[in-house]
Amino acid sequence: MTLGEPRQATGFGHGKVILLGEHAVVYGQPALAAGMSAGVTVQVQARPGSGRLAAAAWSLDARAGDGSQVGRALDAILGRLRARDLDFTVDARIPARVGLGSSAALSVAVARAAALETDATDDEALRAAADGEAVFHGSPSGIDAAAAARGNVGRFQRDDGWRPVRVRAPLALCIGLSGVLHDTAAQVAAVRRLRDEAPVVDRVLETMGAVAEAGVKAVEAGEIARLGRLFDVAHGLLSSLGVSSPELDTMVNGARRAGAVGAKLTGAGGGGAAIALAPGREDDVLARWRADGFDGFQTVVGGEAAAP
Ligand code: MEV
Repeated sequence: MTLGEPRQATGFGHGKVILLGEHAVVYGQPALAAGMSAGVTVQVQARPGSGRLAAAAWSLDARAGDGSQVGRALDAILGRLRARDLDFTVDARIPARVGLGSSAALSVAVARAAALETDATDDEALRAAADGEAVFHGSPSGIDAAAAARGNVGRFQRDDGWRPVRVRAPLALCIGLSGVLHDTAAQVAAVRRLRDEAPVVDRVLETMGAVAEAGVKAVEAGEIARLGRLFDVAHGLLSSLGVSSPELDTMVNGARRAGAVGAKLTGAGGGGAAIALAPGREDDVLARWRADGFDGFQTVVGGEAAAP
């Protein structure tokens, strides 16, 4: 930016929903995910600042290098972009730490806002966002950051990155919040330990990848009922890895009883969120969840035209 221009750069990161393939994606399997239209908008404040970030909706106030997790992530992002003299305010429209990609959305939004101020390219911004995500999640597969940056529905694989999926019919999803905050790094570490103890677990992960691949085809063909059945299969496989929880199982079973064609946990699990596909029965699913003490909302993914 040149002198005299208003310094109001903003960056946006989408919240994400993993439809199929979480955890397996860490081991190179394909996964199917979507960026929601809701997400996180970050605005640069007047310069010079000191790497401070305030997110009222998350009761968060951090500074690059203050030792907190957010502070360390900020330090990584702003260090790469040589932007430690910026301050940011955050308008967060997704809840934090519930499996909807809040940390990736924040990292992408901060990096994009900072990149506008420092004339860095979007590729540099996304590399900086990946550095931030590594602070939050150890060694993430990159799926959360890809969905946060790209939005819409995509197939993600570690070696191939994000490929937009052509969605025949937008997907109306019910998203249920278990009320239990989750810790992605701890869940990923638990699956790693299980895999070390029982290498046969690799076959479960491969099957999860095949289920995700089948999900890509179902989405492309607009076969919602088939996608729902794949959700059910995926939930069983994720449960076998030990990443479900009593709350998530209650939500998944409640959704099915309320008319969903399929339901599963989404994201790292152990808490966080569940998703359900319930064409025409969305209100029934949300009412069931509320009756069982869980919050929930509806969102539509895949409504935008897929990128070529
Ligand atoms: C977390 O949203 C998704 C996981 O597969 C971890 C990752 O891919 O980095 C559990």
